[in-house]
Amino acid sequence: MNAFNILALQAANQPDPAESLVRFDGVGKTFSVDGQAFEAIRDFNLSINEGEFIAIVGSSGCGKSTLLRLLVGLDADYSGQIHVDGKLVSGIGGDRGIVFQEHRLFPWLTVAQNIALGLVNEPLTQGERARKVNGFVELVGLKGFESAYPHQLSGGMSQRVAIARGLVASPRILLLDEPFGALDALTRQQLQDELLAIRERSGITTLLVTHDAEEATYLADRVVVMEPRPGRIKSIVDIDLPHPRARTGVALHRLREKLLHQLTGDGNYLPPRIDRVEGVRPEFIAL
Ligand SMILES: Nc1ncnc2c1ncn2[C@@H]1O[C@H](COP(=O)(O)OP(=O)(O)O)[C@@H](O)[C@H]1O
Ligand SMILES: [Mg+2]
Repeated sequence: MNAFNILALQAANQPDPAESLVRFDGVGKTFSVDGQAFEAIRDFNLSINEGEFIAIVGSSGCGKSTLLRLLVGLDADYSGQIHVDGKLVSGIGGDRGIVFQEHRLFPWLTVAQNIALGLVNEPLTQGERARKVNGFVELVGLKGFESAYPHQLSGGMSQRVAIARGLVASPRILLLDEPFGALDALTRQQLQDELLAIRERSGITTLLVTHDAEEATYLADRVVVMEPRPGRIKSIVDIDLPHPRARTGVALHRLREKLLHQLTGDGNYLPPRIDRVEGVRPEFIAL
């Protein structure tokens, strides 16, 4: 990589691809709709470092779910390349776990059995399997509900099961497609904090798709803003704040504003001046 490329990457808020765990290189996707070609994604380039938390935000239909499907290996019909740990993605694999907005649990299976589905491709003994499942039941706070069926669970609990199923095979990358979008605000906040706790413990690389700017800025290290028709990257916003982050803090609020502006405006954002906060002089405002 020459100096010019490195500068270009830095300008685009991207790490050095040689050191990244996930690489999208010039990825494009075209669907055929009623015999007509429909370009859903164009020239998507993104490098994700090991342990990073990336959020992808963008309006409905800009290709977010399609990108996750390509990375998870559910669709091989695309242009460009996707590498995980230097290997070209070909089909699904235990190194990538995925959680969808709808929990997609099987109603005739118990919590433990649903989580165990995440291990179907793992060569484990029955004892090892049970131990792993129990560990993840505990991790997501469902101890005592191992034998419950999905209809006996709340939306938040069902999504916890889905997260445990996504993690049980110890993937290196966790993919989440609007996982908290259907939950009430309080449960959503609770699960966001649990996701951060899981990350702190496991350091797992995380790629979250959301349409919620607040969620993206609260959780992620970098937020990829996409624009539609065809879906492509508009900008990448660094969220350079340590965890735990204050949901109502000024710093997060400013980043959220910037992000919302990226999502809806022309991208030429100038933060508003804060001259006075309830009588506090500006030099005393911690940003
Ligand atoms: N299987 C498919 N066949 C045809 N068009 C599709 C298919 N899947 C997605 N699309 C189209 O591709 C675009 C991107 O879809 P999607 O990735 O689901 O967007 P998002 O998740 O950002 O809402 C949308 O316009 C959608 O209608
Ligand atoms: Mg989607």
